[in-house]
Amino acid sequence: MSFRLQPPAPARPNRCQLFGPGSRPAIFAKMAASEADVINLDLEDSVAPSDKAVARENIIEAISGVDWGRKTLSVRINGLDTPWWYRDVVDLLEKGGERLDQIMIPKVGCAEDIYAVDALVTAVERAMGRTKPIAFEVIIESAAGISHVEEIAKASPRLQAMSLGAADFAASMGMQTTGIGGTQENYYMLREGVKHWSDPWHWAQAAIVAACRTHGILPVDGPFGDFSDDEGFRAQARRSATLGMVGKWAIHPKQVTLANEVFTPSDAAVAEAREILEAMEAAKARGEGATVYKGRLVDIASIKQAEVIVRQAELIAG
Ligand code: COA
Ligand code: MG
Repeated sequence: MSFRLQPPAPARPNRCQLFGPGSRPAIFAKMAASEADVINLDLEDSVAPSDKAVARENIIEAISGVDWGRKTLSVRINGLDTPWWYRDVVDLLEKGGERLDQIMIPKVGCAEDIYAVDALVTAVERAMGRTKPIAFEVIIESAAGISHVEEIAKASPRLQAMSLGAADFAASMGMQTTGIGGTQENYYMLREGVKHWSDPWHWAQAAIVAACRTHGILPVDGPFGDFSDDEGFRAQARRSATLGMVGKWAIHPKQVTLANEVFTPSDAAVAEAREILEAMEAAKARGEGATVYKGRLVDIASIKQAEVIVRQAELIAG
């Protein structure tokens, strides 16, 4: 480990972030009743320009009018290249009440984007005498965003989570696909005439995980568009979990169960992690730094790996 220690990420469950358009208040109570850890009420791309103002009002009313339980409540504001975002921030903070936990900033391209929102949020918070500071989450969904991912990750102490937004990312990168996440038909290697598909999202996810872990932020996988394809969702989510991401978006309520299933460590995985910790305790008592568990090497690094799984399970258990 570096002399500079790796900061821990916020200790809250973030297995699933359920989205819903702010222009569709009829689903807010259903979102609140879901098993999602995080709720994202949307003012951005699921809301038509003519509905922006009414969606804002719907959300402001729902922040205090709906019982969100212990969920993290977040609102996705409009991008900084639009005429709507400043009004989103000001109205949410002035009229939305203290229940709002987080603002999601989409299409972040540089650290200064966060700085601008932070300055505005800080001023409104002071003016209003808000006692609970608003947290930020961001979406990396452009060429600029992924190019500047590390400076973005350290841009503000308010920042708690970072998601990969596959659709806008693909468009910004000029990728030849209209799919939102998952397997891409033309992204394959050929060996002896047989196609082997690989993962075009992998490098961006790995870059996000590294930036997030360096700066103590939760890395999250964004949307999987084909909500009829449960196995496709599971495969995408399992790859993300294996890479170190803590959760995934749901753009339809049926995806909540799938995300919770994948991002909750299984009983078997937790039991094995605990056994590894016990094996290492026994090794330590014998004065050994390494030992054998089920025919394979475990050493002091294995303790840290096992602790990741045990800590995640404990955090989810509450
Ligand atoms: N959250 C909670 N409940 C939802 C929901 C959501 N995001 N979307 C739909 N529902 C409810 C419906 O009201 C319906 O409830 P009912 O059984 O009581 O009638 C049930 O879930 C089934 O809905 P379904 O008919 O399958 O979907 P739909 O056609 O009503 O809506 C979408 C489909 C994709 C348009 C909708 O899920 C949606 O808007 N998703 C979020 C989009 C978004 O926010 N995008 C931005 C991030 S990428
Ligand atoms: Mg987007």
